[in-house]
Amino acid sequence: MPDTALARAFSTRLRRWFRRHGRDLPWRRTRDPYRILVSELMLQQTQVARVVPRYEAWLERWPTARALADAPVADVIAAWNGLGYNRRAVNLHAAARILADEGIPTDLEGLRRLPGVGPYTAAAVACFALGQDVIPVDVNVRRVLDRAAAVAAVTPEPGQAYDLTQALFDLGATVCLARVPRCGACPLAAEGCPSRGRTYAPTRAQGRFEGSNRQRRGALLRAAAAGPVQLDDGNRAVAVALERDGLVAVVDDTATLPGR
Ligand code: ADE
Repeated sequence: MPDTALARAFSTRLRRWFRRHGRDLPWRRTRDPYRILVSELMLQQTQVARVVPRYEAWLERWPTARALADAPVADVIAAWNGLGYNRRAVNLHAAARILADEGIPTDLEGLRRLPGVGPYTAAAVACFALGQDVIPVDVNVRRVLDRAAAVAAVTPEPGQAYDLTQALFDLGATVCLARVPRCGACPLAAEGCPSRGRTYAPTRAQGRFEGSNRQRRGALLRAAAAGPVQLDDGNRAVAVALERDGLVAVVDDTATLPGR
């Protein structure tokens, strides 16, 4: 099957699967850029189940960008407590001021200029809030696409990016699991996923050297050598330490090899 036909078949299967099995999550009931931004910043470091109540409480307190922009930053930082990496609260507050004063930027470049917004989050806002045909690729989406060899699916047909991405999130979270995927429940297995039936050894991060600084630095540096690495609460400190040593450059929450 030509690549485009395969991508179309995957995309159709995924979206059909999502309509039956997708999770009902509060940030999927809105297209408001501010609300999408809040959800994505929270989801970058915290599990979905823990984010849901925090997201709802946040929006009850600050339902609009204007409301958040007018709040004292200390309140915003305090309300972020427990979500990790408090700098995100400061960034969200500053981004809310821009949204309230100027509106949401309408292209990826403009979105990336918002405080705390890297390539992934810019793509997420463009797709989920602005309805643009881009797929934000996080680690779960990357895993599913790599396994299914469905790279062509990242060029969605017009109007399908939202559903396709949400389907990929949910497939990654509930079926295409990191170590022992549930291929029997997967809509792509019958469609000829080349990885069906495979299981995966624990990643080194889950092994006995977990937490070892040397291992984490080595892993991040290897990843940066292969391409830009999106930073999160789990690897940011390592990246900053690497930057101090001149080994990576950290720009917009992304680590690259210096000069890349
Ligand atoms: N992770 C990041 N964004 C998400 C979303 N919109 N739904 C589920 N998981 C996510």
